Amino acid sequence: MELFTEENATRVVQARNTGCKDARMRQILDVVIAHLHAMARELEPTRDEWSQAIAFLTRVGQMCSSQRQEFILLSDTLGVSMLVDAINHRREGGGTESTVLGPFYRAGAQRLPMGASISKDGRGEPMRVMGSVRDLDGQPIAGATLDVWQSGPNGFYDVQDPNQPPFNLRGVFTTEADGRYAFTTVKPSSYPIPDDGPVGEMLKSAGRHPYRPAHIHFVVGAPGFRPIATHLFMVGDPYLDSDAVFGVKESLIVTPQRVWDSARAASAGLPAPYWEISYDFALAHA
Ligand code: BEZ
Ligand code: FE
Repeated sequence: MELFTEENATRVVQARNTGCKDARMRQILDVVIAHLHAMARELEPTRDEWSQAIAFLTRVGQMCSSQRQEFILLSDTLGVSMLVDAINHRREGGGTESTVLGPFYRAGAQRLPMGASISKDGRGEPMRVMGSVRDLDGQPIAGATLDVWQSGPNGFYDVQDPNQPPFNLRGVFTTEADGRYAFTTVKPSSYPIPDDGPVGEMLKSAGRHPYRPAHIHFVVGAPGFRPIATHLFMVGDPYLDSDAVFGVKESLIVTPQRVWDSARAASAGLPAPYWEISYDFALAHA
């Protein structure tokens, strides 16, 4: 019989898992126990501090609803989401880099034709986004889908803002035979992640701001290829080097060009001047 002591705590608790039939689950339990115990040994929390930690996690859970995922925000702001993403998307052969999905993805956005606008309310500075989807050899991928979403110029997603029509600034596009895609939207702006809950309290007490640099979200996929969730970020944004969720990668920063040519604007169905971004995505075979 080995009773629990401060010295043997980790071994004794892990030993209770020997009946676990699932090897991966056993490994997860053992590693989580080892790291939690190591944290307690290093921090030596008072009972009051540990109660505060439990109360914090309780508030994180209580803040969650169908519209709000505070645990994802916690994972994002502690850099865990991006670390898990990096582990799962070690870059192969020059494929487009991935970044955090975030909590504002909504399945079921409308499929739209080439060049269509995802802005349902027309608010913001017009912007055209275009380019291609290719494989790692540079060959165009026909029939690739780009599921696109972004916040409005006020920094809110449709799901956060009753003044935006449902599915505003969302759409799904399909590449043509030459692998090309194009859509119109409005220039995104930087915005704070939801900071009126426990994660916001944590950021404040750490002396951190809650802002993300302006970006457009994409999930790009095609049959036979590994899908990626990524963003395009706007050059010059003041939050590029301090993104609250650590999502920025150099290769995902684009430079919007101001287009004044009225003939070009007319052919894009936009008023001049408008902003234009060009970006080619590269997918790895599954
Ligand atoms: C987003 O970009 O939509 C996002 C990502 C992580 C946390 C909050 C928002
Ligand atoms: Fe976002």
